[in-house]
Amino acid sequence: MANAMLLITVLLSFLILPFSAVALTQDFCVANLSRSDTPAGYPCKALVSADDFYYNGLADAGNTNNIFKATFTPATVSQFPGVNGLGISAARVDIGVGGVVPLHTHPAATELIFVTQGTIVAAFISSDSNTVYTKTLYKGDIMVFPQGLFHYQYNIGASPAVLLVAFSGPNPGLQITVLALFANNLPSNIVQKVSFLDDAQVQKYKSMFNGTA
Ligand SMILES: *[C@@H]1O[C@H](CO)[C@@H](O)[C@H](O)[C@H]1NC(C)=O
Repeated sequence: MANAMLLITVLLSFLILPFSAVALTQDFCVANLSRSDTPAGYPCKALVSADDFYYNGLADAGNTNNIFKATFTPATVSQFPGVNGLGISAARVDIGVGGVVPLHTHPAATELIFVTQGTIVAAFISSDSNTVYTKTLYKGDIMVFPQGLFHYQYNIGASPAVLLVAFSGPNPGLQITVLALFANNLPSNIVQKVSFLDDAQVQKYKSMFNGTA
């Protein structure tokens, strides 16, 4: 009987291990950021203290003096190594009056936003039918954006908006569509081909986002 239980436990461990290797074998694995990240997270650092599980980098408003009038301030594993291996991380988004977090995706996490100030419109677009799921959010509202889907937020109020963000992974990633298209050295004729924009539009946006022709 004891042997059967042991066998079941061992078998279950193998089933579960690939998804939560850290949780089963040790309480935590604070990232050693001087090592390389891996698909299973960073290797653990040796000496850990309470400071590793604490971060105050979201306390202050981010600088929204940029083309988007918005700032994303991450508390993901690179800034907050204590979340390594825990399947969670955070961020703060400040959106000035008239500001926008343009169409973007986090390839590796679902995102949940909590509006703590201001009024925004937020939406995501499904990948199967390109259906737009859009809502107006007021202070205190939350909304979830499923992993990997394109989404955006913009401020429709008369004052700055602040969102607290929870991610379902320690390293959600961030890719912004206009930057992927225009903020690099992708040749203009290729951008035209893959975006259906004309040359004048591509030149305008490359110059706006510091891409090279
Ligand atoms: C982090 O990794 C480096 C390189 O392997 C090692 O020298 C260092 O001692 C590690 N730091 C901690 C705190 O574990």
